[in-house]
Formats: sequence, C-alpha cells, structure tokens
Amino acid sequence: MKNFMKGGRFTPSSYSNETEEKIQLYRKMGIKTPPRKILRTPEQIEGIRESAKINTALLDYVATNIHEGMSTEEIDRMVYQFTTDHGAIPAPLNYEGYPKSVCTSINDVVCHGIPNSKEILHSGDIINIDVSTIYKGYYSDASRMFMIGDVSPEMRRLVEVTKECMEIGIAEAQPWKRLGDIGAAIQEHAEKNGYSVVRDLCGHGVGIKFHEIPDVNHFGRRNTGMLIVPGMTFTIEPMINMGKFHVYVDEADGWTVLTDDGLPSAQWENMILITETGNEILTY
Ligand code: MF3
Ligand code: CO
Repeated sequence: MKNFMKGGRFTPSSYSNETEEKIQLYRKMGIKTPPRKILRTPEQIEGIRESAKINTALLDYVATNIHEGMSTEEIDRMVYQFTTDHGAIPAPLNYEGYPKSVCTSINDVVCHGIPNSKEILHSGDIINIDVSTIYKGYYSDASRMFMIGDVSPEMRRLVEVTKECMEIGIAEAQPWKRLGDIGAAIQEHAEKNGYSVVRDLCGHGVGIKFHEIPDVNHFGRRNTGMLIVPGMTFTIEPMINMGKFHVYVDEADGWTVLTDDGLPSAQWENMILITETGNEILTY
C-alpha cells in the first residue's frame, strides 16, 4: 500500500509543482486536501471523457424513447442494449448485487428504484433515470428527470428547482473553494423554495471507480470540507424533497430509497472535472 510515498513526495505529471505548492499552503492552514491520487492524469481524463460521451448519448436516447404506458423494465432493456451496442458496460448491473442496468425512480422514490415489468409510467409521473457507464475501464455517471404526460404545476416546480440546485452546485465547484461551498449553495436554494435536501445520500468522486472519495454533500456550510483542486472528477446530484428530508430504504429489495412522508422527490446529476480556471461538465 502507498508504495508511491517511498523515496519522497508523489508528483505525477497530472498536476504542476505550482498546484502542489498551492495545496501545501492550504494544508498548512489546516484545510483538508484531496489525496493526490484522485487528481486525474491527462490520460485518465481522456478515458473518463469518452465514457461520459457514451453516457450522455444514452440519456439522449432514453429522452427520445421514454413514453407514457411503458414499463421501467423496458427502460432497463433500452439502457442495456444501447450501452452494450457501444462496447460499454452498464455500471449498475451487478454493482454490489444491484440486479439491473439503470435506476428508475418515480415520484416518492428518491433514488435506486429497480426497473420492473409491472411498473408502468402514468401521466402525471415524474421519473429520474440514472445511468452509469464503464468504457475501457473508465466510469461515468449522470441522471435526468422526465415528466410523463400532464404533470401538476407543483411537481413541475420541484423538478425545475432541483435542476437549478444542480446547476448552482456546479457553479460553486471552483478550484480552491471548498466542498462545503457546493452543499451550502444547494441547500440555500432548495430551502428558499420551501423544499428539503436529502441528507443520507451524496455526490461522489467517479472515474476510475464507480464511487470514490470524496463524498459531496448537497447541504452544509461554506468554508468547510475538502479543498477543491484541479484534476478532481466528481458528481453533483442533489435529491430534493417536496416535504421533509427523511428517507428510508425499502426492506423488501434493499435498494429503493423512498421519502418518509410519501411526498415526491426529484434529482438531477452531472459529473464534472475541476480545471485550473473553473470546471467542465463531462456529462453534457
Ligand atoms: N447511479 C447512482 C449514483 O448516482 C448509483 C447507483 S448504484 C446502483 O451514484 F447500484 F443502484 F446502481
Ligand atoms: Co452518482
């Protein structure tokens, strides 16, 4: 373990001495800094980018084909077919025992809904489609909301505000800021609109594995948490509830996360690369 520490400081070509010096300055101020191994090399960034391109094309494909009356099982088949046709693997399939290729989360399902042939999309439903792709060993991850038929103004507003939360979080993800700045900005926007932020699930590092450090909370305080440094790749994927933030996991399947109060929840997810000057959304 950690052989790279032998014989001195680990300085891969992925980031400059200048970046390392800047990191050290923050570290000396007592700020938590990212382990250098999560700062991607140019080669890794290229691989992750390619994976993300397929993942985005997949979400576009779902967007074109999703319709009222179809089952979530049909969405799962679509995702599996498209992904494998592109020489890639759906990351959820068999991930820690997860049985399908995609998560399909309707209305009061917060996330990790499992596709099922008996579950039909009805007019008025809001659904999150969360897809993740492995291509040449590199991981990507993103999700979008879809509104089926006639959706109530209340639920439309939830979907729209949640999208704004994701965008506001991304805007905060700037080099040399802190992860807490992202969470704080998202929480402020959600709560200002009368909603709550799910606490029990978070964004995450992604690229070399499906879920890596750091955890990216969608709530919190400014000027807290890990330093944001160029070369990091992570998701921002706020889950916003119309009612209270409390959630539970369905005991029957061990995956499906639902709101305690039965009110709807929405989620949008993108994956970003922190650059020297800002960030790049890899899943657009
Ligand atoms: N795609 C989810 C995320 O955004 C993770 C799903 S894990 C699975 O992190 F096993 F349910 F697919
Ligand atoms: Co994710």
